[in-house]
Amino acid sequence: MGRFQYACDANSNRTQRDLSLTGGLDELYTYDDLNRLTSMQRGTLSGGAIGSETRQEDWGLDALGNWETYDVEVNNAAFLEQERDHNDVNEVGVIDIKPEGTGTDWADVVHDDRGNMTTIPKPTSLSASLTCVYDAWNRLVAVVGFPDSIWFSLDGAGRRGRSAEDTFLLGRPGTAVARPDGRRPHGPGRGVFRGRPRRYTGGRPEPRHGRRLLMQTEAPYTEAINLKYPEPVVVAIAKDAQGKYNPISLGWCMCTSFKPPMLAISIGLTRYSLEAVRSAGAFVVAMPSEDQEADVMLFGTKSGRDMDKLGAAGTKTVPAERIDCVLLDDAVANFECRVAGELRTGDHVIFAGEVVRSTMNPEKPNRLYTVGAGHIMGGLPRKWKR
Ligand SMILES: Cc1cc2nc3c(=O)[nH]c(=O)nc-3n(C[C@H](O)[C@H](O)[C@H](O)COP(=O)(O)O)c2cc1C
Repeated sequence: MGRFQYACDANSNRTQRDLSLTGGLDELYTYDDLNRLTSMQRGTLSGGAIGSETRQEDWGLDALGNWETYDVEVNNAAFLEQERDHNDVNEVGVIDIKPEGTGTDWADVVHDDRGNMTTIPKPTSLSASLTCVYDAWNRLVAVVGFPDSIWFSLDGAGRRGRSAEDTFLLGRPGTAVARPDGRRPHGPGRGVFRGRPRRYTGGRPEPRHGRRLLMQTEAPYTEAINLKYPEPVVVAIAKDAQGKYNPISLGWCMCTSFKPPMLAISIGLTRYSLEAVRSAGAFVVAMPSEDQEADVMLFGTKSGRDMDKLGAAGTKTVPAERIDCVLLDDAVANFECRVAGELRTGDHVIFAGEVVRSTMNPEKPNRLYTVGAGHIMGGLPRKWKR
């Protein structure tokens, strides 16, 4: 229990707080000509002044109200003497100790182009930092490094669930949804997370001050294109000039027509398969299953110039019926294609093939995907199996 008494000046600024039942927690406040708080002293009020001062805080404000300096004294001894800088849109950036000042530099604050603080000083160790992640609606969805990443769920009203570790930071009750493994949070708000589960890896560019974009920022092609994964893998097979059926693993394959059904594959100029497809005038596109990863890795890292890949892998094949080629018996599906045309595109050639026959594995095994750059392959869960 306590009883507060306040005093105010003619501008209605609160100038003192007197906590009568508990000693040492009275406060005096000072304002500048613009009625902005510039100083707070805590201790015991006596005759309108603070005695036995336990804490004092002073703010040096610029014309826009940003804290240029922030000083703290504890028991009349300097504890923290900071200076801070702000950008053109009044976002705080560097928080350093004044020259000859007391204390330790805090981690610099970084904002994204939408004004969200993406790097903040860690409350329990202010020289270290935490990374904050926001969704497309600028709602905080993760704090990374506290000490593990914490992912929050958001309900339909935007209320955030919290985990046990974040009490100091957020201090609101809710449901615990920490995902230190970086996987997508579960719970009622999961609809706000779009796309596949992903681990936050940081790396947003520096904000361009004063600009407010939505989610898009400039990125090198090699970085942005890696976001295409998972990418389904196919194996194209064509008979070479020596009569050998040569398989090549391909990520670049697509449907291009319903009537007639057509598939296009893109083969690099350096591949042995290029001439094989040209000379055969036909190829098979097989969709390997997730169990065929080892074969696909061999077909995608060795060349038919040097070896018989199908023989080396011991892959089970069956003859194609409409073209001179073979099918992969354990694949999810196979398509026999006749080359309808080719188009040179940079360092690859696209072959468009008319599908003249298709087969499928009645057991419908899962397809194989490349799930990350560097030929990281695996199967994906399929909820919609028919
Ligand atoms: C998962 C995976 C996807 C690939 N995608 C393609 C592709 O789309 N186009 C291509 O030319 N090479 C691609 N490659 C590389 C070829 O498969 C590789 O160079 C192969 O050894 C060429 O064989 P060849 O010389 O017998 O034709 C891929 C490799 C892997 C492992």
